[in-house]
Amino acid sequence: MHRFLVIALIVAPSFAAAQALNPMAIPPALDLDTFDLTVDEHVHQFYPGINTNTYGVNGPYLGPTLILHQGDTAHFRIHNELAQVTSMHWHGLAVPGEMDGGPPREVEPGETWEVKYKVKNPAGTYWYHPHPHMLTAFQATQGVAGMLLVKDAAEAAIDLPRTYGIDDFPVVVQDRRFLPGGNFFLGPYGDSVLVNGTPRPFLECPAQVVRLRLLNGSNSRIYALGFEDGRQFRMIAGDGGLLSAPVAMQRLWLGNGERAEVLLDLTGMEGDSLLLMSYGSELPVTVPGSNNMMMESSILNGVDFPVLRIRVGAPTADPVTAIPNALVPVIPYDEGSAVRTRTKLLTGTGMVGSMGMFFINGVQFDMDVVNDTVLLGSTEIWNIQNFSNMAHPMHIHGGSFFILDRDGQSPPAWERGAKDVVLLDAGSSARVIMRFDEPTNGWPFMYHCHNLMHEDNMMMLQYIVTDVTTSAPGMQADQPLRVFPSPAVSLISIRAEQPFRQAELFTLQGCRVRNWEGVASKEAAMDLSDLPAGAYLLRVSGNGHTARTTVIRE
Ligand code: C2O
Ligand code: CU
Ligand code: CU
Repeated sequence: MHRFLVIALIVAPSFAAAQALNPMAIPPALDLDTFDLTVDEHVHQFYPGINTNTYGVNGPYLGPTLILHQGDTAHFRIHNELAQVTSMHWHGLAVPGEMDGGPPREVEPGETWEVKYKVKNPAGTYWYHPHPHMLTAFQATQGVAGMLLVKDAAEAAIDLPRTYGIDDFPVVVQDRRFLPGGNFFLGPYGDSVLVNGTPRPFLECPAQVVRLRLLNGSNSRIYALGFEDGRQFRMIAGDGGLLSAPVAMQRLWLGNGERAEVLLDLTGMEGDSLLLMSYGSELPVTVPGSNNMMMESSILNGVDFPVLRIRVGAPTADPVTAIPNALVPVIPYDEGSAVRTRTKLLTGTGMVGSMGMFFINGVQFDMDVVNDTVLLGSTEIWNIQNFSNMAHPMHIHGGSFFILDRDGQSPPAWERGAKDVVLLDAGSSARVIMRFDEPTNGWPFMYHCHNLMHEDNMMMLQYIVTDVTTSAPGMQADQPLRVFPSPAVSLISIRAEQPFRQAELFTLQGCRVRNWEGVASKEAAMDLSDLPAGAYLLRVSGNGHTARTTVIRE
């Protein structure tokens, strides 16, 4: 194998002096009904004596693990103590558009955003991270992210390790490059691997079955995870919850934003140790993290490097000692139920970092353009085809999907559960099927490449989900912007919470068909009578705030 390359390459050379192993940080787990999350600036020492400026959530780097229960309503208060706007997105959770925390849902410095949604997803590993326009990579690099663990009855009925920090561990894998002064460099690749923010980590695990919840929280690097001794592990869950049965694996590719829960049987191994590696030498040159020099360099590219050392300690009093044969029934959406197929072509050639210019169906992100309109409750197939020069981890907000096929073949067993990221190598394609059960209520959902450099460089589009039967998308009580009537045939009345000076109406293609400007007011009227029937996007703005909603012309 490729172990000879590894050992000297773990951190940037300037920090190579102090190289003891560090106990892997385990973020506190909060099992609450209301979560107060403060996003703030900090100084943190990843390496002794070296100060790094960070952003964190309730702490210096990364945030607490939030435990959510299916069927409950979870409340959050996001306090933005940064000097710049942020937002907070619940990656993988099915929540309505106004709660989704995408780029339009900005939280201004000093503001608090109150969020409340019903937890609908099955038990699994999800995560939260900021999503502000063109600042996602920066804020994520600085440390704003955390895990969301959903619990449900079906998972609780299976004999699985689930004691947080004892036999069930969050494992957020990130790479960071430290500048000589100690601060982070914003770029696609890092030279230090951090697990939960810990460089050169080790984790003590009991000698029994343990569960690792892996998340690739890196900007651009893709990991090919496996154990140095070639041992098998069993994957039990992907992005959106449990698989139907554990899948024995030696290698697991994890794209940016993807999660995998794996079981490791350490029974009888007390006193032993093992090493979780990433086999970068196995990545094709089209995959970020390979040794393709065209894709910007890093000392970790194309080589095999350690991610996490595991030391096996004494078993607990009540260990899980067997891996179940079956988990939960997984029932993908039926292909025959799809009402429509959309084709999404990924094009462009470029580098991994911000020099990359990539397109989805020939266009890039424009906050004022809605790229797709989907009917609430409908099922669609999205056929994503990668004609660009590199792999992209494609992510869709608003729910989970199932992979129907990859390049015409049914997906491997570990990709047959619910997903929200599909890693597509150059030249490959996948058809995914999704049911759109969450309305956007004027706050569009994104779909984008989860390589954060690409995402911030506009490899992202947005869609709305409308309910044509009862459509009054501007009428929700908690909407900051109301339009009535909707649907409308002629005059609409616009009411906002804050005074606005401008109200613009756009077609879903982004063409402005109305522009009202006047003295600051919370109300305006607009005549739609000469416009063709269909959905439009209304934007009002004034004094640094904007609000949007959809308007239906009958
Ligand atoms: Cu992880 Cu658009 O998000
Ligand atoms: Cu997301
Ligand atoms: Cu990409």
